[in-house]
Amino acid sequence: MNTLYKKILPAFAVVVLNVFAGAVKAQAQTVWLDELDLSNATQGYGVPKKNKTVDGKTITIAGKTFKRGFGTHAESSLMIELNGKASTFTTHVGIDDEIKGHEPAAEFVVSGDGKKLWSSGVMRLGDSARFCKVNVTRVKMLELIVTDGGNGNYYDHADWADAKFEISDAGGIATFNPIAKVPYILTPKAPASPRINGASVFGVRPGSPVQFQVAATGNRPMVYTAAGLPKGVNINKSTGLITGRLNAAGTYVVTLTAKNAKGSAQRKLRIVCGEHMALTPPMGWNSWNCFAGEVSAEKVKRAAAAMVKSGLINHGWTYINIDDFWQNNRDSKDQTLRGKFRDEAGNIMPNVRFGNMKGLADSIHQLGLKVGLYSSPGPWTCGGCAGSYGYEKQDAQIYAKWGFDYLKYDWCSYGNVIDGLPDNDPDKVSSLSYKGGNQLATAIKPFDLMGKYLLEQPRDIVFSLCQYGMSDVWKWGGSTGGSLWRTTNDITDTWTSVKNIILAQDKSAPWAKPGNWNDPDMLVIGTVGWGSPHPSKLKPDEQYLHFSLWSLFAAPLLIGCDMEKLDEFTLNLLTNDEVIAIDQDPLGKQATCVQTIGELKIYTKQLEDGSKAVGFCNFGMQPVKLSYNDFKQLGISGKQTVRDLWRQKNVAAVTAGKDQLPLNVPAHGVLLYKFSKAKA
Ligand code: GLA
Repeated sequence: MNTLYKKILPAFAVVVLNVFAGAVKAQAQTVWLDELDLSNATQGYGVPKKNKTVDGKTITIAGKTFKRGFGTHAESSLMIELNGKASTFTTHVGIDDEIKGHEPAAEFVVSGDGKKLWSSGVMRLGDSARFCKVNVTRVKMLELIVTDGGNGNYYDHADWADAKFEISDAGGIATFNPIAKVPYILTPKAPASPRINGASVFGVRPGSPVQFQVAATGNRPMVYTAAGLPKGVNINKSTGLITGRLNAAGTYVVTLTAKNAKGSAQRKLRIVCGEHMALTPPMGWNSWNCFAGEVSAEKVKRAAAAMVKSGLINHGWTYINIDDFWQNNRDSKDQTLRGKFRDEAGNIMPNVRFGNMKGLADSIHQLGLKVGLYSSPGPWTCGGCAGSYGYEKQDAQIYAKWGFDYLKYDWCSYGNVIDGLPDNDPDKVSSLSYKGGNQLATAIKPFDLMGKYLLEQPRDIVFSLCQYGMSDVWKWGGSTGGSLWRTTNDITDTWTSVKNIILAQDKSAPWAKPGNWNDPDMLVIGTVGWGSPHPSKLKPDEQYLHFSLWSLFAAPLLIGCDMEKLDEFTLNLLTNDEVIAIDQDPLGKQATCVQTIGELKIYTKQLEDGSKAVGFCNFGMQPVKLSYNDFKQLGISGKQTVRDLWRQKNVAAVTAGKDQLPLNVPAHGVLLYKFSKAKA
């Protein structure tokens, strides 16, 4: 409307024209991204924020502030159903200034119906916001993606600022998330008659105390016997706890029997007295993902009690591991964490929340469980508690004296030791790198030292290395006396975290073997939260995929949730004996990905009995339906029985090269099958 018309038209006509213009405008309406439901986004850290950054601050990119937008964190995905109703999408994107001092990198991608429509290129802190305008007229489904920019997703605080759509249909547009939310149970209930579960091989060193709990489901009372037990070792008939001591190396094959009013079950147990502990991946619980710095002896005891009461002990779950914060802390304001780090003799002092460590270990052993502890080769743990630096021998001795069975040894401040930085250096708990370079000998040294002292103790202490996979730890972790080692950084309960950890496992797979395990970190199912408890943010199918892959990987299985809040779904995940048997298979092979079909990745694991466990894992946002017949790729031939392990039932008989196997894999879900040669 130009001014000339306004001058010559009577006032009422101007009103009419303005109303008309308004109507046109109402048709081509602006919908701000922040007006949509952002909770449908998935992201690598925090929760989606409306008109704020992921940390809840004003959106600021290279000094420029924005009032509106979507604050997220790589890796992030938000899906919006447009169905052709929108014409344009505009936004500014960038890394938020709130992350000063770090080196984030991320790429913003706008994708329409699976095709890339626009990309920001990799953006870094301080880059001015980049403007994006895309025509979305024909787009049905738009996805706003933030990738990790190729350097992991640390500190990738990503903003979609002033993001908006021009839409033509007042019916509107909406976000959605195609991953199913409703939990469903697959694990059949264990029968009332006895069934023996868990590890079928057990390693112990000559002279060390033997403690092995026979895991059996079925009605109680149960009577346990073990035929062929070597001299010096006995079974408690009513609890199934095998204890004693073996002085000579050797392999002893024992026949276990569990009997109740409904029947009896038998199984062989191989006791291998030799150099190695952890002949199958350790299974248990760790306090960190649940309690973090809020852990106490009381909470640990309650977790142990819940391990028994929930029946998890009957499926092979064994260790109760205390993570960081049982020691006194350097800078906490919490008085229960303040106190002397060591006594006059240099012995490590537990904080007042713990007190009597021997008493705690004894009480856990009495339940038929084992108990673990945590320290750092540096002066401080990751949480700033007293570490073992300079006291390695004394610490190993005291752990043994208290009766501990497991030590997680976490790099953390050790980088400062190498760099000669003072203990109070601001970088003191930096964990990922040290300026001295990643020389192999430097990386190995602290683990060699503690490993040697642990092996000198008169009891078996499983040594768990935690240094996030630096210097290809899988190649040398075993030589330090380590039974397991973390391969990646800390897990969180997000799809991004779990997916990225999974995709990083293949390179270490050849080094997994009985006594030496790659550790992709603890399970993030159930009520987790590192001190702020919440149900795992992983969707049910994502949890099935997580547990299936950990089993295929022969990963240590460490429950990270509040054991007193085990819901039915979580118990269903933790008590499937056929799935656990894949993890605990005595051959000790780690699955690798042998085939990729679109978003479907197929993992195979060779099992001791000649059969193969196969995980059909869908990393995509849509279900995968296909008729599979490429068995050669999986190393499978001949006539096979196909068993669905989660459902514990045979689902097909196929002849490789001839038959098709119909697959229907949920989005972010899994089918975990076992292929066994069919009897002729
Ligand atoms: C590191 C480890 C975690 C946990 C914490 C404790 O981050 O990777 O598993 O032990 O330290 O502070």
